[in-house]
Amino acid sequence: MSELKRVRKAVFPVAGLGTRFLPATKAVPKEMLTVLDKPVIQYAVDEARKAGIEHFIFVTGRNKAVIEDHFDLAYELQDTLEKRDKKEAIETLSQYQPRPGETSFTRQQAPLGLGHAVWCARELVGDEPFALLLPDMVMKDEKGCTSGMIDLYNQTGGNIIATEEVAWEETHQYGVIEKGEKVASGFEVTGMVEKPAPGTAPSNLFINGRYILQPEIFDLLEKQKPGAGNEIQLTDAMLTLAKSQKFYGHVFEGETFDCGSKAGFIRANIAYALDDPGIRGEVLSDLKKWVLSRFLSL
Ligand code: UTP
Repeated sequence: MSELKRVRKAVFPVAGLGTRFLPATKAVPKEMLTVLDKPVIQYAVDEARKAGIEHFIFVTGRNKAVIEDHFDLAYELQDTLEKRDKKEAIETLSQYQPRPGETSFTRQQAPLGLGHAVWCARELVGDEPFALLLPDMVMKDEKGCTSGMIDLYNQTGGNIIATEEVAWEETHQYGVIEKGEKVASGFEVTGMVEKPAPGTAPSNLFINGRYILQPEIFDLLEKQKPGAGNEIQLTDAMLTLAKSQKFYGHVFEGETFDCGSKAGFIRANIAYALDDPGIRGEVLSDLKKWVLSRFLSL
């Protein structure tokens, strides 16, 4: 195998309309809704940083400027906090502050689909492999899903798709992979099906929103015709790429919350709150009270 190019860059597509959260997302991007005390987008960026990513590329759209502000230095706030000697708040801000030049932003001018959003990052990624993280999927795990994928990539090269087990009867709601031979800490992906008809899924491993892709995907996305929902679909371009390049699967074993859905978003908030020693007791006692009074007395 020729020398592997390191995965240094990550792409975060954040140009979706977030219609499932209207009216909340009329003026606030869904990626800025908070799970406990951090916006959803921050979880994906933290996960990428932990995996060794050095450059963070955001594909934004209209009404998403606040995401850029979130990752910028808030000079006036910083100054006020310093004058008031708010050490803890200053420390919190600096912990999440990207260094100058680590972030890039480009705009998807119209929401033509995830595949189109990824294609919009082509000039910023250039000719190297990159991680792709769908920020809606908040992944709770000490090591981080992207770290596990980069470990696998460093052994196999090629393209990596993160997957996760789901109940067989739910497979029709997801993109599902076909599992081949075991390779290093993962396995070869021998097929992918978007939302298979009930009872026909080739496995119960669904594609969970984290990828490592080779730059050849961009040429394929450029030529990709609109697919399901009349959108440019990433999966369609990956299926074409799989004819000439290897894809490997990584099984993520932590907890994933789909924060693009209301139920997933609420579950994420509860899970992170129950892990926070400062508020766990309060939240737990209310949860117990609500469950007992609303459901068990029925
Ligand atoms: P979703 O399928 O969740 O769509 O996108 P959405 O528009 O964000 O949300 P709903 O369904 O209307 O509530 C999956 C990911 O792809 C990005 C989204 O920002 C999200 O990270 N995306 C989707 C784009 O960046 N551009 C698009 O044109 C579509």
